[in-house]
Amino acid sequence: MLRKHLHEENRQSWNAATDAHNSHKADQAAFFRSGGSTLYPDEIELLGDLHGKSLVHLQCNAGQDTLSLARLGATVTGVDISDTAITFAQQLSADTNIPATFIRSDVYDWFEQAAQRGAFSSYGAIIWLSDIAAWAKGIASILKPGGKVVVLDFHPYPMIFDWDWQPKFSYFNGANGEHFANGVGDYVAIAGDVLTPSGYVEGVKDFVNPHPGHEFNWSISEIITALLQAGLSLKTYKEYPYFNGAKLFNDMRPGEGNRYYPPETMPSLPLMYGLVAQK
Ligand SMILES: C[S@@+](CC[C@H](N)C(=O)[O-])C[C@H]1O[C@@H](n2cnc3c(N)ncnc32)[C@H](O)[C@@H]1O
Repeated sequence: MLRKHLHEENRQSWNAATDAHNSHKADQAAFFRSGGSTLYPDEIELLGDLHGKSLVHLQCNAGQDTLSLARLGATVTGVDISDTAITFAQQLSADTNIPATFIRSDVYDWFEQAAQRGAFSSYGAIIWLSDIAAWAKGIASILKPGGKVVVLDFHPYPMIFDWDWQPKFSYFNGANGEHFANGVGDYVAIAGDVLTPSGYVEGVKDFVNPHPGHEFNWSISEIITALLQAGLSLKTYKEYPYFNGAKLFNDMRPGEGNRYYPPETMPSLPLMYGLVAQK
């Protein structure tokens, strides 16, 4: 069931958090002007050659990955519900001369008036959406025949853990959601220099989000079933034993390429998944 009133609360929560997150990132325009990219090899592999492709980056936040996709040759539109994120993304595009279109919208509203193109969604996106079947149908409606959606996101399985890797949240709870009084936290500050490729600055201190947040931890089978029932074919499904650029739990071990693994006391776990589905 689509719950847009909860998305509106998430919008306010993301507005507050995006300001805090960007406050920790040193001159981002300079980073891009000097050739920087915020993409990881994993999504670049799934996306394939983007030259001449038209692509929507769903839930693009402040546009860093969107501009990196444009650099790879795609004509990109970024869509996000957060006003703060979209305003920042438009300014970053102007300051770097990297062309991209940014639209502030709930993804479900955008699907209804979108022209056809490929779709990309990544890193902490799907968990904010209250209706997985409507999301998949929306994606199917904007793909051309043969068009692809690429998803590279945090795996829902480790989201059962609290910060100390203790099981706390139910895996099979996507439809009900988890509701937090102090919505989106300042995970950029907590991660230190991990999420700030342009450099870390202290920025906002002790951020407490005054707005609630609502998360929907859809299981892998719910995500894949939704895409199949929307008429798409699954072409690729992968799992990864690391997070790219994210220390979402305590004592994570750094590896090459800004990858983070569970502490040595833990067995290996699926921490991210990637998929390609085609119309
Ligand atoms: C963790 S961020 C995604 C980061 C993104 N992958 C990037 O490239 O930076 C999650 C984003 O989802 C957006 N969001 C949450 N619910 C949404 C909705 N219903 N429609 C559109 N955007 C939404 C938030 O505003 C936030 O920017």
